[in-house]
Amino acid sequence: MKPDEAKRFKPQFDMSASVPEVKIKKVSRSAMKEKKVPFEYDSDSFYEVVMKRAQDGWSMTLQRRRRPKIFKKRSTDTIIEPFKGNTEIFLAFVDGEEAGHLQIEHQRWNNSLRVWDIGVEWKYRRMGVGSALMGKCKERAQKLGARRIILETQTSNANAIDFYLSQGFELVGMDLTNYTNEDVGRNEVRVEMAYHLRTGPTKSSNANGKQRSRHRESRAKR
Ligand SMILES: CC(C)(COP(=O)(O)OP(=O)(O)OC[C@H]1O[C@@H](n2cnc3c(N)ncnc32)[C@H](O)[C@@H]1OP(=O)(O)O)[C@@H](O)C(=O)NCCC(=O)NCCS
Repeated sequence: MKPDEAKRFKPQFDMSASVPEVKIKKVSRSAMKEKKVPFEYDSDSFYEVVMKRAQDGWSMTLQRRRRPKIFKKRSTDTIIEPFKGNTEIFLAFVDGEEAGHLQIEHQRWNNSLRVWDIGVEWKYRRMGVGSALMGKCKERAQKLGARRIILETQTSNANAIDFYLSQGFELVGMDLTNYTNEDVGRNEVRVEMAYHLRTGPTKSSNANGKQRSRHRESRAKR
């Protein structure tokens, strides 16, 4: 994106207003059992995915495009889900009011810290709350010795992609049919973004440096 375009996407704020103090608190999983959080955003852009078969492989492009009208995502998710594993949950507070949440899981099999959820209440967006939550995530990754932070987002969520880029994440992969078989046509394709802390083998590497994975383990059980 060109610098003048970046300006257009950024809402105008009173720059004299001070940045609020964000407090991050860890909360127990049991306290979050019934908790539901909104997953909501409006976006005027998306990334168009074009995958083509070439002579000796494939070519793929992801191109940012403007939408003819604003795309509005509105859903509500339960925080605790069995597939998310043994997660850690953090809440962000501004002036004692809940402003955002973060849910992470240390996946030991590939020594990655997965961000399952990150979200900020509408009225607290673009004030640094998401950055504060991501700061906590990086701190945990460092402490756990994780080699990377990994997360899933969608080509429809250009705002989140901008946010992750601002936090030092890069695109590392995608799944063209993760949600439905029409994800490409619907412009809602799963992308994986990662923040790399260090290089080297995972903690679960064996003596030959080969990585054991859940996939490999589950294949062995069959
Ligand atoms: C994505 C999200 C967590 C960002 O939280 P936030 O508190 O608004 O982020 P910050 O204020 O810390 O923003 C840090 C930087 O990220 C980028 N950024 C954040 N929101 C952006 C947006 N809507 N458009 C463009 N860039 C954005 C900017 O570079 C920003 O710095 P700046 O404000 O100085 O320009 C928040 O918008 C959100 O909750 N979205 C809905 C839920 C969601 O999509 N979660 C991610 C699921 S994958």
